[in-house]
Amino acid sequence: MRVLVTGGAGFIGANLCRALATRPEVENITVLDDLSSGNLANLDGVGVDFTRGSILEPGLLADLVGEATHVIHLAARPSVPRSLTDPLASHAVNATGTLHVLEACRRHRRHLILASSSSVYGDRPEQRKHEELATRPMSPYGASKLAMESYSLAYAESYGLPVLPFRFFNVYGPLQAAGHAYAAVIPAFVSAALRGLPLPIHGDGTQARDFTYVGSVVGVLVDAAVREVTSRTPVNLAFGTRVSLLTLRDVLASVLGGPIETAFLPPRAGDIRESQAAADLLAGLFPGVCPVPLEEGLRLTVAWFEKTASTAPAAARGAQSP
Ligand SMILES: NC(=O)c1ccc[n+]([C@@H]2O[C@H](COP(=O)([O-])OP(=O)(O)OC[C@H]3O[C@@H](n4cnc5c(N)ncnc54)[C@H](O)[C@@H]3O)[C@@H](O)[C@H]2O)c1
Repeated sequence: MRVLVTGGAGFIGANLCRALATRPEVENITVLDDLSSGNLANLDGVGVDFTRGSILEPGLLADLVGEATHVIHLAARPSVPRSLTDPLASHAVNATGTLHVLEACRRHRRHLILASSSSVYGDRPEQRKHEELATRPMSPYGASKLAMESYSLAYAESYGLPVLPFRFFNVYGPLQAAGHAYAAVIPAFVSAALRGLPLPIHGDGTQARDFTYVGSVVGVLVDAAVREVTSRTPVNLAFGTRVSLLTLRDVLASVLGGPIETAFLPPRAGDIRESQAAADLLAGLFPGVCPVPLEEGLRLTVAWFEKTASTAPAAARGAQSP
């Protein structure tokens, strides 16, 4: 297998490249990334062919896709708040950029895995978000992700392209940047706790998320590529857990071995109250999958933060998705 990973210098992408590099089936990994939120240091020590460039460059994409046998498309302009600031930029990368990836895959008939987002569900009142629910994005980011997954399914129907659109929920773990305006909640919590600062919570902390350890996510992505799994509907890539931010704080406190203070801040625009996946479809396609539990995932994340504390400025660039 020769795998092209778009966005491979980002948080999930670099973890994915590390996992791909351990697989005997994978003879080559190519990364296309414009480093707008990713960081080349994330790929230190991983054997990849790196190209700095954009998915908005069709000629470059066509060449790289042509040389690959499998494509895993993670490049995006992530984060709800960023999309509220500049919706056109989010649309250009997330929707139009994905269309370019699809065109290149259509031309070369490549198996394509894509990263959509739980944000497509928006404020649906149902507690467990299953894939058949009508979508209701609340932010330009969510709308752009709905567009990209819809295009991928349209390419499957129209051209028979083998695609697998995943909806990621709240992914966390090593290589996820903290210390910037768009940091996701777990790196923001871990970073604050390790510096003895109160944990910043927007709203009352009862909002809940389906936190998914990045190792569990990339395990599924690798298996999906190796077995060329396809789906005619989007597939939630999360395991159906429901953890409030207050519970997250308590689990983190137990990992760190002491109480942690909290700083309550005003709620953020576009924030969703409840995000919990229905995981039946995922379990059907990946019967052997066994997710890393939250406490263990937090331990691994804290260990990474502690190990990289001395290189924090390099690791602290980037932006994460909700
Ligand atoms: N992290 C999460 O919890 C989460 C949740 C839902 C969906 N997702 C999706 O998963 C994917 C990976 O997210 P992440 O958390 O690793 O974010 P990230 O910002 O760390 O990674 C995105 C990567 O894409 C690159 N990129 C951006 N624009 C590009 C362009 N035009 N051309 C080439 N590369 C470009 C960035 O430089 C970065 O390396 C994204 O598609 C994101 O929307 C992530």
